Amino acid sequence: MMERAPADRTPIVILISGRGSNMLAILGARPALDVAAVISNEPLAAGLAAARERGVATRIVDHRAYADRAGFDAALAREIDAFGPRLVVLAGFMRILTDAFVARYTGRLLNIHPALLPAFPGLNTHRRALAAGVRIHGCTVHFVTPELDGGPIIAQTAVPAAPDDTEETLAARVLVEEHKLYPQVVRWVCEGRVRLAPDGRVTVVRAGTASGSLASPPLDVA
Ligand code: GRF
Repeated sequence: MMERAPADRTPIVILISGRGSNMLAILGARPALDVAAVISNEPLAAGLAAARERGVATRIVDHRAYADRAGFDAALAREIDAFGPRLVVLAGFMRILTDAFVARYTGRLLNIHPALLPAFPGLNTHRRALAAGVRIHGCTVHFVTPELDGGPIIAQTAVPAAPDDTEETLAARVLVEEHKLYPQVVRWVCEGRVRLAPDGRVTVVRAGTASGSLASPPLDVA
């Protein structure tokens, strides 16, 4: 079991449902982020075993054991709050959360979405992006609000999409960027550098200024 020595004392709880590759990217960030626990609604989520191997506390809150969403969300909140996190990070967590749950963690609940929001909220983003013929796709990290995939955007990464892409090739290209973007945004939030204004606009303090452009397909150069 690997000893973890968090450089940052902002306890984080990560919620997963599946393979947990974004979770692993956050666990692998250096200097280490202070991940207190990983919680899954799926008892067999591959990410749970990976978290355990890395010495991180894990919990299961199986949604099938609860009569309704409210009951599940209340149980989930109890497990989360036992770790006293400042930040709750959704990383491939495939349950829709109740408004009460979202309200409990306002301003400290993050999600990563595999599209350039507000384009393609919801599921099957890569398939839908290809069907729409977009030439630029990407991923978004945002604060969670009751509107599905509709919360304030913190940061995005764009990637090119091509007509000969498949859902799989495009997903893989986006995922590589997710694994860079999510740990960075989590660190910004832990460092207190992400400001959420009452109008829902987000600023990242001391972030660089984006420059240049991505054209897809690339322009002919003279
Ligand atoms: C990622 O593509 C993420 O953007 C989406 O669900 C997927 C989860 O993958 N929300 P993983 O479990 O982090 O590997």
